[in-house]
Amino acid sequence: MTGRLKILLVSLLHHSPTPLYAPFLLPHGDFQTARQLCFTLGRKAYWGSLELHHFPDAQAVVRTLSPDDAVICNRPHAAARAAGFFAEKFPGTAMYAVKANPSPELLQILWDNGISHYDVASIAEVRLVRGALADAKLCFMHPVKTAGAIREAYFTHGVKTFSLDTLEELAKIVTATTDAAGEPAQDLALLVRLRVSSEHSELSLAAKFGVDLVDAAELLQATRQHCDALGICFHVGSQAMTPFAYVQALERVRAAIAEAAVTVDIVDVGGGFPSIYPGLDPAPLEDYFQQIHRYFEMLPISYSAELWAEPGRALCAEYSSLIVKVEKRRGDELFINDGAYGALFDAAHVDWRFPVRVLEDDLSGTEQEFAFYGPTCDDADYMKGPFMLPADIQAGDYIEIGMIGAYGAAMATRFNGFGATQAFVVEDEPMASLYRGDRARKASDNVVSLR
Ligand SMILES: Cc1ncc(COP(=O)(O)O)c(C=O)c1O
Repeated sequence: MTGRLKILLVSLLHHSPTPLYAPFLLPHGDFQTARQLCFTLGRKAYWGSLELHHFPDAQAVVRTLSPDDAVICNRPHAAARAAGFFAEKFPGTAMYAVKANPSPELLQILWDNGISHYDVASIAEVRLVRGALADAKLCFMHPVKTAGAIREAYFTHGVKTFSLDTLEELAKIVTATTDAAGEPAQDLALLVRLRVSSEHSELSLAAKFGVDLVDAAELLQATRQHCDALGICFHVGSQAMTPFAYVQALERVRAAIAEAAVTVDIVDVGGGFPSIYPGLDPAPLEDYFQQIHRYFEMLPISYSAELWAEPGRALCAEYSSLIVKVEKRRGDELFINDGAYGALFDAAHVDWRFPVRVLEDDLSGTEQEFAFYGPTCDDADYMKGPFMLPADIQAGDYIEIGMIGAYGAAMATRFNGFGATQAFVVEDEPMASLYRGDRARKASDNVVSLR
């Protein structure tokens, strides 16, 4: 690219009133609007030029653009690799949990690499995925939905699969999918969500949803009357640090099936598959798959029963990193230009330690612990870390924060007008990967003992 063309592109990026890569950052469901906006403003050419805007790595982005705002770096090759891994190695159907990162670009990458099923949790996600991937199979896996959302999902978008955890929700689904002639739907796949422990996971999902084992038999029997395929699903909590989490949950599934004495057609082990972060280095995913398959095979289910999973984090954590600029240093606290209300929600709210590296060449090798303050005026915009960075880092220096593809930009608000509004493609490797095949295999002890 000539220098002049590059300057033109850069100045278009800087002076455009509309973030040109906006769909990534918009609330779910607004993607169509954003795409239409790009077309209506006649920006297709600009959009196109941005698509060409690849950089070797985050440091090249900084050297070329010296961005004042935080910038997202996307790695399509990393998401493609994760999707291919699940499509090939998970011993069943892996459906992507869209909430982890609803970027249409990412959805397309996952689809192109073998992910055909999508776990959607709201009608906005249903519309988004249906708009982006016309042939995808959508499963509405939120156990509490509005009747209107169920009706639109079923009659307009061809969604046949729903989860539930109460008799009330079952009645709602049955009514909302009954046609104008009063004929109930004959083609529903209904999955009863079972409450299971989150004790092996970093983020609990055990309190809000799921029928208790003692009430499961009645709900399974009632649900069986209204569906073509009956399933059981659960979620062991996000970032499950051992395959044993799934073993325990599948034992609970076994007890529920035995008590209800119903034919179960689908067992869905949910999300929870981990990624790698500082201090969180899980066993290889193959261990998870092996144990899940083994315990699934031992369930009292029909020979043709299907095994499903709903990975979110594991499919997209490696997809993105974030470039931030240090605006001020106060001792061991760095004031950066993204934070709790931007792509770093988890760093602030659940003290998630994302990996970091400095994007400067002239700093010392000695590292020390830092905490971050985000850009808004709110005291809660604080990330305690600790984040290890060169001791002589100062205002004006850039940092790359890795592994923010899951629950990163997806959680961002525009509070106070801050946050990343641009995204570029970079070609280097993510800061850590479960999929490169270069990790030392660490056996998961508490499962080995069950073998
Ligand atoms: C129903 C459901 N499925 C799947 C997921 C994805 O979980 P994870 O990102 O931990 O894989 C979630 C996350 O909240 C969820 O609620």
